[in-house]
Amino acid sequence: MADHKLNAKKLLAYNRINNKYTIPSHNLYPHQWSWDSPWIMYGYTELKEFDNAENEIFSLFDYQWTNGLVPSIVFHNLENNTYFPGPDMWDLHITADHLTNKNNCTGIVQPPIHADACLKLFQKSKNLKFLEAIYPKLLKWHKYLYNERDINDEGLVYIRHPWESGMDNSPNWDESLNRINITEFKYSKMRTDNKKVNSDERPTDITYERYLYLINLFKECRFDEKQIFHKSEYIIQDVLFNTLLLKSNYALLEIVKILNYSNDINLLNYWINKTKASFESKFFKNDFYYDYDLKAEKLIENKTISGISAILTCEKPKLLVNSLKDNFLDIKNNNYNISSLDRNHNMFDSINYWRGPMWTNLSWLIISGLYKVNEIELANKIRLNCIKKIEEIGFYEYFNSNDTENKKSSGCGDNCFSWTAAMYICLTSNIKM
Ligand code: DGY
Repeated sequence: MADHKLNAKKLLAYNRINNKYTIPSHNLYPHQWSWDSPWIMYGYTELKEFDNAENEIFSLFDYQWTNGLVPSIVFHNLENNTYFPGPDMWDLHITADHLTNKNNCTGIVQPPIHADACLKLFQKSKNLKFLEAIYPKLLKWHKYLYNERDINDEGLVYIRHPWESGMDNSPNWDESLNRINITEFKYSKMRTDNKKVNSDERPTDITYERYLYLINLFKECRFDEKQIFHKSEYIIQDVLFNTLLLKSNYALLEIVKILNYSNDINLLNYWINKTKASFESKFFKNDFYYDYDLKAEKLIENKTISGISAILTCEKPKLLVNSLKDNFLDIKNNNYNISSLDRNHNMFDSINYWRGPMWTNLSWLIISGLYKVNEIELANKIRLNCIKKIEEIGFYEYFNSNDTENKKSSGCGDNCFSWTAAMYICLTSNIKM
């Protein structure tokens, strides 16, 4: 295990650029990604590489827009043009010049786990100066989400692009995306991802056309959130996104107590109570938490890993344990890989990105939730399965969720992936989110 931990540390160093930020991987993702950075920070924190963790978050938040938006990707190195779509597809210097003076980033977001990762970092580093410097940026980020992405003022924020969910091709987006009519394939030929790794493990071309259609719509609306809301077919309140928002609100509350910023306590409690209440009343049905399609005004009744992630903060975690066992594991075959989609769903595909494979970051999140509700034996089995898999196969982006023998071929997407290395460190140290 010690060797593997050293390898994880070395991999993070290899993917760290100028000791400032960490790219997910050199091959497929050669820039900085917003929700990768906090997962990576948990790893740095556990390694006591506090400077690396602090630099990571500042490198990202340096690109925060004036309205508080934190971009999903920062293209720090403009010379690297091997990723599609790059900064030229966003044209921010023309389309968002009233919101940012940087044009080497995107105009969409990713799940808000940043505040939680910053709190965990402070709890180990005890660096108050760091906390004082990052707190106003984190608060501004959450204000953006509540002010701009909660159109009904119900405490649930929405996403406006599948990439904002972090689960790009989840079947939960199919119905909304299918409402976007594509008449010509313009952009998918420019893809680089499906040439770098096995294309069966990536989204389809038509899905990419719709991803790019949405980017063009945002540009047309000059990133005016209200206009986008009215014109777009894809507006979703996602369970994972709101779970992480809630988790990070709790972290912010803890942070203001540490910093003695009592003026913000009421606002944070207000957000927490409102989000919690709507989360339970809107997302929960029978025994599961479902995403909500704000355009079709209905629950999206697929059981996906997004719903299981609610275990971290929801009020009915025990019901989710049953669903985890019945739908996402295959216990009778001794299979403890948490799949990203219900194994009985007709779209289940054990190697295709967010349509079935096992991911280590969300596995760690769910393991943390299981420990919280005292499901120690199950949590340990899943945790040890993840550790063994990474040790035997490598630091892959995701894994074939049907493989119990840890065959080399079951590593999916890219290899040498930063958050898998960070998660290995967290899983072996047995720390919790
Ligand atoms: C990708 O390119 O696959 C990313 O997930 C988009 O953020």
